[in-house]
Amino acid sequence: MTVTIDNAPIRELIDAEKLQARIAEMGAELTDAYRGLDPVLVCILKGSMPFFAALGQAMTIPVRYDYLAVASYHGGTKSSGVVKFLADLSTDIVGRHVVLVEDIVDTGRTMAYLLENLKTRQPASLEVVTLLDKPSRREVDVPIGYRGFEIPDEFVIGFGLDYAQYYRNLPYIGVLEQIPEVPKPGA
Ligand code: PRP
Repeated sequence: MTVTIDNAPIRELIDAEKLQARIAEMGAELTDAYRGLDPVLVCILKGSMPFFAALGQAMTIPVRYDYLAVASYHGGTKSSGVVKFLADLSTDIVGRHVVLVEDIVDTGRTMAYLLENLKTRQPASLEVVTLLDKPSRREVDVPIGYRGFEIPDEFVIGFGLDYAQYYRNLPYIGVLEQIPEVPKPGA
């Protein structure tokens, strides 16, 4: 049988309960670290969206939200190394405490690019929070302030992470055991 998006075998790596428990801990740590600082949480679209939403709700201090979009994978299972800015923040971050919220730091190229870019806007501080960290793939060193889980070098999907834009809606982190065929538009 052809393996397609809806019947591809997926091995669960981090279940929904573990994810939520760890995110609650991270939210509590950030609450303590940013009390009185009126931080801006930045969601790095698209992958970070479910983590961002859960992390924000796990924080019990006033926070502001902003969004930006970058892409580096362009549909494959490996980073292309080329980072493209698709949408910028809608607010000025000069003098503000900025928390960048990522789903995964892999080669580190996306985060290094963002840090370099956002630093020039003179925020009061700039911190990196990532749900997943894959240190074995790092090509560029990036300072990670808070990490949810360190994971092995496997292609992960779910909880915001995609393969060919699918699987972002899974409530857990999984590994695709076979790369499925992607449906063509209108098929
Ligand atoms: C993924 C992920 C990070 C980046 C990490 O984004 O969300 O932004 O890749 O990879 P790196 O450390 O090798 O740069 P992607 O470009 O797939 O866009 P998406 O969030 O829209 O899926």
